[in-house]
Amino acid sequence: MKVVAINGSARKDGNTAILIRHLFAELEREGIETELVQLAGHVIRGCTACNQCQVNLDRQCVIKNDIVNEVIAKFSAADGIILGSPTYFADITAELKALIDRAGRVGGANGGLYRRKIGAGVIAVRRGGAIHALDTIHHFLHIAQMVVPGASYWNVGIGREIGEVEKDEEGLRNMRTLGENIAWLLKLTRDERKPQGEPRRGIHHISVHTEDLAASLRFYQDLLGMRVVNRFGNPERQMVLLDSGDGSHIELTAPVPNPAGNAAPGPGPLLHLALRSQDVRAVVEQVRRAGHEITVEPKDVQLGPDRASVAFAKGPSGELVEFFQTHDR
Ligand SMILES: Cc1cc2nc3c(=O)[nH]c(=O)nc-3n(C[C@H](O)[C@H](O)[C@H](O)COP(=O)(O)O)c2cc1C
Repeated sequence: MKVVAINGSARKDGNTAILIRHLFAELEREGIETELVQLAGHVIRGCTACNQCQVNLDRQCVIKNDIVNEVIAKFSAADGIILGSPTYFADITAELKALIDRAGRVGGANGGLYRRKIGAGVIAVRRGGAIHALDTIHHFLHIAQMVVPGASYWNVGIGREIGEVEKDEEGLRNMRTLGENIAWLLKLTRDERKPQGEPRRGIHHISVHTEDLAASLRFYQDLLGMRVVNRFGNPERQMVLLDSGDGSHIELTAPVPNPAGNAAPGPGPLLHLALRSQDVRAVVEQVRRAGHEITVEPKDVQLGPDRASVAFAKGPSGELVEFFQTHDR
């Protein structure tokens, strides 16, 4: 398990970083991997409200000349996310706010990239405004559907010059308690985040050949509330996987017809039915022995961040059946 922390301060290795490292010490003691990303020296502009992330669905911000996409990828891969900031005029730094606005928008557009990760804020302060700054971070953590543990006090350390927070005994104790609580919660919820938690049988997805991918997304995602969980394919043939709500999915394929033998030959938008399989190669041999045509032999595929083994066969009525075996990330 891994926790990524952002230090939003303009001062590298200042008081905010010191507080985060005290928290990290507890996580590391519990065997949890940690990584600190410091924004000092980085220029991060705010969200331009172009809303392209809601169209592209590629887990990226269209502004590509700064650190934001790198951070989004780190957030997506992490089990826990810590956002740290010094208090600047009773709030967080402009750089951290810009990062939150853009990473938050991309996360929301892509079906909740940070959903159910463990999140916490950490604030360094000279004298006043820390609670307001912490609230700013909490607004993001909560709307991103993260789970936010508490500690023995609010997550604040007091100090002005670099290193002064080391004298704030209560602040440091609170960081250790926060670290313990994050570690406890991470371990408690670990199995929930594992791909093995997926059902092992049943329907993995139903594949729909879209006439207009954006219109289909408006229907399934915006109108029916399904969450985008993966996006793969290539620019010529984009594919989007949405969670239908019970662990099965709708796979939307962009308009270009698929010549690869995994699309139904007849007209109509339904391409194939994908059944979860624990061993694609074994089930294909069974189906072949029973006399059914295998249209695509078993193969290993990389679908965005997910690995799978797939094969296709014709069912008794000519329907196309995919056998779909997921592999752990
Ligand atoms: C632009 C700016 C604004 C600040 N505003 C506040 C403030 O509103 N309240 C406060 O108590 N300290 C304020 N401070 C002091 C910092 O929060 C404090 O020195 C903190 O320990 C810095 O953490 P760092 O070493 O991680 O940057 C401000 C500092 C700067 C540079």
